[in-house]
Amino acid sequence: MSKTKESRLEKLQDLEPSVDEFRTSVIDGLSGPQKTLPCKFLYDERGSQIFDDICDLPEYYPTRTERLILERHARDIAALAGPRTRLIEFGSGAGTKIRLLLRALDKPAAYLPVEISREFMIAASRELAKSFPDLTIAPVCADYTQPFTLPDLPVGHDATVGFFPGSTIGNFTRAEAVDFLKVTRNLMGSGALMIVGVDLVKDLDVLRAAYNDAAGVTAAFNLNLLRRINRELSGTFDLSSFRHEARWNERLDRIEMHLVSLRDQEVAVGAHRFRFQKCETIHTESSHKYRLDGFRKLADEAGYDPIEVWTDEKNLFSVHALRAR
Ligand code: AVJ
Repeated sequence: MSKTKESRLEKLQDLEPSVDEFRTSVIDGLSGPQKTLPCKFLYDERGSQIFDDICDLPEYYPTRTERLILERHARDIAALAGPRTRLIEFGSGAGTKIRLLLRALDKPAAYLPVEISREFMIAASRELAKSFPDLTIAPVCADYTQPFTLPDLPVGHDATVGFFPGSTIGNFTRAEAVDFLKVTRNLMGSGALMIVGVDLVKDLDVLRAAYNDAAGVTAAFNLNLLRRINRELSGTFDLSSFRHEARWNERLDRIEMHLVSLRDQEVAVGAHRFRFQKCETIHTESSHKYRLDGFRKLADEAGYDPIEVWTDEKNLFSVHALRAR
């Protein structure tokens, strides 16, 4: 029986977070003394699109620097991976970086994108299927900060490679990053190769500019979270009464995104009401930055041997190769 190209795209495993989970997180997050919202909810369809625009900004160096490193070292990664791999990508987004790896790998068997933004991932998987007709693609819509399982594949594989690009690992605190890496290790098995993109501590002006771009795209990305609450949870946020702010937290080596209330105000989310004082903030995202050695230590704690690290000339960004013990 001949298989059509379409048949290589497996049925979606759908574990998308529910509106109820979103509501619970928002109400919890806005009830504490420091209001917070989980950053994973920034990525609705519109948010994912705005994030894609961020990646093209002149100030936002991570995406293009990581791509450069991956282009230079795709063959090294392929050599570490071996033939016929099952490739799992955590937070696949628009699915552009994966092409660099797929082209370099020796007869990759299957690609499993794990992504919270469902429609976005389906579209990206379809596009990828056109370019790689021999590849089995098994998309998983899931919040990978929660336990999830991988779908059974109709094809065998000789090795497993995890790919966690973009310094998305920076959204976790150090302790959460260790926990997350432990989960991936259990999911992928001993001997698996893990490729992680990690943003580095650097000149503060460069860092701050990357999260305070002149065109205001990052501000739109941040504020879109309030728009999403209004739409999905019957919220009454007035977007013009909040402004985006990105701060460097010296003690924790991280950029924090906040939404700052421009006045005293009260906002409803469904039946719940929340008071904001002027200048009070909602903390919406943290982006932790690392030193090479600090990240190696963290990986070791999580049960991975750090085997290689690649950087760019300016030491802006790093790509680590880890082997699961
Ligand atoms: C996708 C989490 C890696 O932290 O740099 C970009 C998200 N936020 N600009 C980052 C983001 C504001 C991005 N990560």
